[in-house]
Amino acid sequence: MALRLSSGSQKVRKRLPRPSKSGGMLESLIYMARNAVGRVNEMSEDIDWDSLTFSLTPTDTMYLTETSAEDPWMPGSLRPYGPIPMSPAAGVINYGQGLFEGMKAFRTSKGRVVFFRPEENARRMQRGADRLKMPPVPESVFIDAVEQCVQANLKWLPPTGKGAMYVRPLLMGSGPILGVAPAPSYTFLVYVTPVGPYFKGGVNAIDLLISEEHHRAAPGGSGGVKAIGNYAPGMMPSKKAKAAGYAEVIYLDAETHSYVEEVGAANFFCVKDGVLYTPELTGTILPGITRNSVIELARHHGIEVVETKVEASFAMDADEAFCCGTAAVISPIGSITKGDTKANYGNGTPGPITQKLYTQLVGIQNEEQEDIFGWLHEVPV
Ligand code: PLP
Ligand code: COI
Repeated sequence: MALRLSSGSQKVRKRLPRPSKSGGMLESLIYMARNAVGRVNEMSEDIDWDSLTFSLTPTDTMYLTETSAEDPWMPGSLRPYGPIPMSPAAGVINYGQGLFEGMKAFRTSKGRVVFFRPEENARRMQRGADRLKMPPVPESVFIDAVEQCVQANLKWLPPTGKGAMYVRPLLMGSGPILGVAPAPSYTFLVYVTPVGPYFKGGVNAIDLLISEEHHRAAPGGSGGVKAIGNYAPGMMPSKKAKAAGYAEVIYLDAETHSYVEEVGAANFFCVKDGVLYTPELTGTILPGITRNSVIELARHHGIEVVETKVEASFAMDADEAFCCGTAAVISPIGSITKGDTKANYGNGTPGPITQKLYTQLVGIQNEEQEDIFGWLHEVPV
């Protein structure tokens, strides 16, 4: 039987250690037997899974570990989800020394619980830690943390096809510092929440507005990593666009104001004459894991992919357009407006290439399509 530990008023289940690689058959059998408790069917009865949106539903348990700037990261522990004490002088709240990740766990049609390419999130957070002068979290600690968090909150994992468990790892300078310098200590925290579609209206095509006034990132800045400070400056332009009836803004490059960079917090693609185009990674664009997966999927299915500078005028003349990300999945774009000009794509439904890529991506995540790239990472439950 898996171990139940009492943590405050909450019950959390501690995962048994995996058998060592050198461990014998007996060790493996004991591990399998102890974990084979059919937990995969644990599901909350208090949630209307059909009405999930991309919003926060507080769950039971989070994961936390801390280290000083000099010491190595050690595995942390689960604890009840809730506020964490922090110095008013913490680096993260004074100078924005913080990173986040966004990843999803799925309950698949084969009755398994899986992550989609979590190692990529771990590596991207390491690159971000390097940029923001924080101690990178080892991949093994990262993966163990996100696995433990999903296991402990299993009942919040939506049924197959009704959403996903969004997993939010945070790395922050939590120690006090007054001078503008790296914090003396760091916290790595993971929490989870069940989510549905990112954009209102689910997979319906979205209307976007090109921002002519604001930029997301500049060359040499932090746009290529998931720094928390990249996101607040987008809130005002995004709110304004939403008030005017758009789902989100498209940012152009800060140097020439002519090339498409990103759609809010998602990557951009368009299709012209059967070829898929996406802005090349120049350092100001976040290297999305979904973006990379879409490129690999498209190439595998014989679709030519060009990573290049994508002029706004070219994008507006394309046959199809979509944005993608962990939260956004693949969201078809119905129109793009720039000043007085509006470009429409199709009749509000996804174009054929967008639809094909969506079906393939979601099919792999739900295990309705074969995972030919080895992207799924099973969470033992
Ligand atoms: N661009 C930005 C700015 C983002 O915040 C995200 C979200 O993570 C993405 C793109 C998409 O990245 P991914 O596919 O790794 O979620
Ligand atoms: C994601 O897609 O995971 C994001 O981080 C986008 C947004 C929720 C910030």
